[in-house]
Amino acid sequence: MTQMRRVSVRLPTRENYEIEIGAGALGHVGRIARGSLSPAARRTAVVSNARVFNLYGARVVRGLRAAGFNVSHWLMGDGERHKNLRTAERALAFFSASKLERTDAVVALGGGVVGDLAGFAAAVYLRGIAFLQAPTTLLAQIDASVGGKTAVNTADGKNLIGAFHQPRAVVISTETLLTLPPRELTAGWCEAIKQGAVGSRRLFEQTRRFLVAERAGETARAPERAQRRADELAALIAAQCSFKAKIVAGDEREDAGRTDAHSRRILNFGHTAAHALEAVTRYRRFRHGEAVGYGMLVAAEISQRLGMLDASELESLRACVRLAGRLPRADDLDERALLRAIASDKKSVGGHVRWVLLEGIGRPRIVGGQEIQPRVVRAALRAAMAQSSTDKSEVN
Ligand code: NAD
Ligand code: GLY
Repeated sequence: MTQMRRVSVRLPTRENYEIEIGAGALGHVGRIARGSLSPAARRTAVVSNARVFNLYGARVVRGLRAAGFNVSHWLMGDGERHKNLRTAERALAFFSASKLERTDAVVALGGGVVGDLAGFAAAVYLRGIAFLQAPTTLLAQIDASVGGKTAVNTADGKNLIGAFHQPRAVVISTETLLTLPPRELTAGWCEAIKQGAVGSRRLFEQTRRFLVAERAGETARAPERAQRRADELAALIAAQCSFKAKIVAGDEREDAGRTDAHSRRILNFGHTAAHALEAVTRYRRFRHGEAVGYGMLVAAEISQRLGMLDASELESLRACVRLAGRLPRADDLDERALLRAIASDKKSVGGHVRWVLLEGIGRPRIVGGQEIQPRVVRAALRAAMAQSSTDKSEVN
C-alpha cells in the first residue's frame, strides 16, 4: 500500500487547501470532496475528456456517489485547441443543466487543458463556485493544478482570458501517469526540472536522481522495487507541489512589480525562449514542456555568458534535460524569427522582456532584456538549439 502524502497550500487571504498525493488517491475523491466542500454541497459536475474519462471516470463518479453526491459528467474535446471561450460556454450550459447551485462543485479530471478550462468555468459560474482538481498528467500534477491560475485561449494567444480561482482540494493519483504517452511525460519532466532549477538544489537533485533511476530501467520487476519506485514518485511529486505551493503563497497573483527570487515570475524560467519556439513552429512541433526544455538551456547559456553561472552548473542542467527524454529537433529553426518572437514575448513588462536567469541551481534572478546584449541572446540561442543535433534527441 502506497503511503498517501499531503501538502498544504497556505494562502494569506483565503482558505487553505490540501493536495493529497499517492497511488490510488482517486479512490479517496469522495472523502476529500466531503471534507473540503460546503456541508450543503449536493451536486458535483465532473469535467473531463473522453480519453481520460474512459480510463478514470468510473472510479471518480463511483467515489463521489458513495460520498452522497449527485454526480453528472461532461466531456470536452481533447487538446489545447478546445481550451477556448466556446468550450467554456458549453461547460457553463452543462452546469446550468445539471442545476449546480452556489454550494455545489466542479471536479476537473484530466491534464492542464481540462483543469484550466473547468477551473475557469467554475470561477465565473454564479460568480464562482467551488472546484476540485484531479490532475492526470505530470505537468498538471506538479504545476497546473496548484496555484489557482485558470484560463482559456483566444485567437490572439494562450491564456489571455482567465481568473485566479483556487481549488478546494487537489487529488493526485500518481498511478494515472502509467497511461500517459511518453512525450507528455517528457514534457512534464522538463517542467519538474524547471521547478528544481529555480527552487533548490535539493529539489533539483531529487528530480535528477529519480530520472537517473528511471532511465536505468529500474522498473517493476520485483514487486518491492515497484512499490519503492511508486513511493519515490509520490515523494517527488509532493516535493514539487510543496515548492509550487510556497511560491504561490508568497505571490498569489504574480505581482508584475516583483522581480525578487521568490516571486511567482521565477516559474517562467525557460518560458521566454519556449514561447518563441512554440510561436515560430505554430504550436505544432513542441509540447509546451518540451519547448521549456530548450528554453531553460537558452536562459542558462545566457546566464553563463553573463558570468553569473558556472559552466559546471550549465552542464548539470543540460544533463538533466537529456534525462527528461527526447526532444523534437530545434537546430533547423530560423534564428531571426526566434529572436523576433523573443522580443515580443507576452510576459514582457513595459515593453521589455524579463528573463529568468540562474546564478546557480536553485538561485534564480530576474534580469531585464535591455541589460542583455542581443549578441549574447543570439549566441545562447544557437548553443541551446544545437543540443538537438549533438544529443541526437529528435522525435517526430
Ligand atoms: P493536456 O491537458 O492537453 O494533456 C495532454 C494529453 O494527455 C491529452 O491528450 C490528454 O487527453 C492526455 N491525458 C491526460 N491524462 C492522461 C492519462 N493519465 N493517461 C493518458 N492520457 C492522458 O496537457 P497538459 O500538459 O497536462 O496541460 C497543458 C495545459 O496546461 C496548457 O493549456 C497550459 O496552458 C496549462 N498550464 C496551466 C498552468 C496553470 O498554472 N494553470 C500551468 C502550466 C500549464
Ligand atoms: N505555471 C506558472 C504559475 O502557476 O504561475
